[in-house]
Amino acid sequence: MKIGILKETQKGEKRVALSPNIAKQLIDKGFEVLIEEDAGASSSFKNSDYKNIGAVVEKRGVVFKEADVLVKINPFDEDDLKLVNKGQVLMSQLFHKSHPELMKKIAEKGATAFSMDAMPRISRAQDMDVLSSQNNLAGYKAVILGAYEMTKIFPLMMTAAGTITPSKVLVYGVGVAGLQAIATAKRLGAVVEATDIRLETKEQAESLGAKFITVDNNGEQSEGGYAKEASEDYARRQREAVNKSLFQADLVITTAMVPGRKSPVLITEEQVKQMKNGAVIIDLAAAQGGNCELSKINKTVVKHGVKIIGTTISPESVSTNASDLYAKNMYNFIIHLTEDNKFKWDLEDEITDETLIVHNGKIRKNGKTK
Ligand code: NAI
Repeated sequence: MKIGILKETQKGEKRVALSPNIAKQLIDKGFEVLIEEDAGASSSFKNSDYKNIGAVVEKRGVVFKEADVLVKINPFDEDDLKLVNKGQVLMSQLFHKSHPELMKKIAEKGATAFSMDAMPRISRAQDMDVLSSQNNLAGYKAVILGAYEMTKIFPLMMTAAGTITPSKVLVYGVGVAGLQAIATAKRLGAVVEATDIRLETKEQAESLGAKFITVDNNGEQSEGGYAKEASEDYARRQREAVNKSLFQADLVITTAMVPGRKSPVLITEEQVKQMKNGAVIIDLAAAQGGNCELSKINKTVVKHGVKIIGTTISPESVSTNASDLYAKNMYNFIIHLTEDNKFKWDLEDEITDETLIVHNGKIRKNGKTK
């Protein structure tokens, strides 16, 4: 089976779906690997790094023509689809629920498509879960970005010139990104607080040294481990519980998302007005609308003395590690789906069933062929 790795074309994207390290592991398992030239350049991987481990570096058109499986990070776009052939298997994040028209086009091509972001949140799928591997890095990078933008340092420092008190960090959303943000901010010496609608995250936040802010919750919390959309009443109670910490915070990191929906607004302009002058908000939910009312996607807004950074590019900015982790997820997924280098098409398997969005030109929804 020939696996073709495409260079990402989305603006600002620096990652590549397969690192040389992991490409070698696939080759050792008997797969052939074709990679578009310079696909790894922005992740510090040279064409020669791929050639040296036995992959073939080719022009884009050749990869599309020869590969049985085409692999990317970002969804296949219109330009990609012009080059896709009948029977080819596409693997990338597809965000299929938000892009039904794209699924239609893939089906019209007679192709098959797996979506990496549709991976079920079950224990045996953890090592294939790209949302986790990438969000983990996003949580780390949010703190580093915050530290860079702040005019204060994180740790307590006792010097001959006086004592510097530690910075206060507040994290909204204790999922994968939020947990890593807590851990990173703690390691840098900040005093960290966190809140989440899912009360089961209290213990996780506390185990990393954060103080958890509990919001009185009338049972409206989770579904399959994910948060459900909060009511306006919950949002009001959340503001009451969190405002004191928000108004004292030096850095606020927001990560709250609800699958398939716009991210909840957790910080209104009224709240921003009462925050500390010089405070920084890093909004990791900006792509889904943002957790702060003033966030603008991939822009820095300074309002009421607060710097609000709506970022979507955190994993890309650490592209070497992000590519390596994405590649490892992809490797585990390909190994899971195949036997003797051929697809098993085991539709009884939950992982295959949930991630197989288009099969031989037919769109599948909720695991059932339409
Ligand atoms: P996410 O990115 O969908 O959301 C981030 C966090 O925001 C979540 O913790 C969510 O509860 C919180 N949130 C949503 N609305 C909120 C609101 N109005 N106020 C406050 N917080 C709000 O979540 P992520 O990181 O994808 O994790 C979701 C779940 O999946 C977690 O239970 C996680 O442990 C689990 N998980 C399981 C995996 C596996 O078993 N393979 C892999 C990764 C995550």
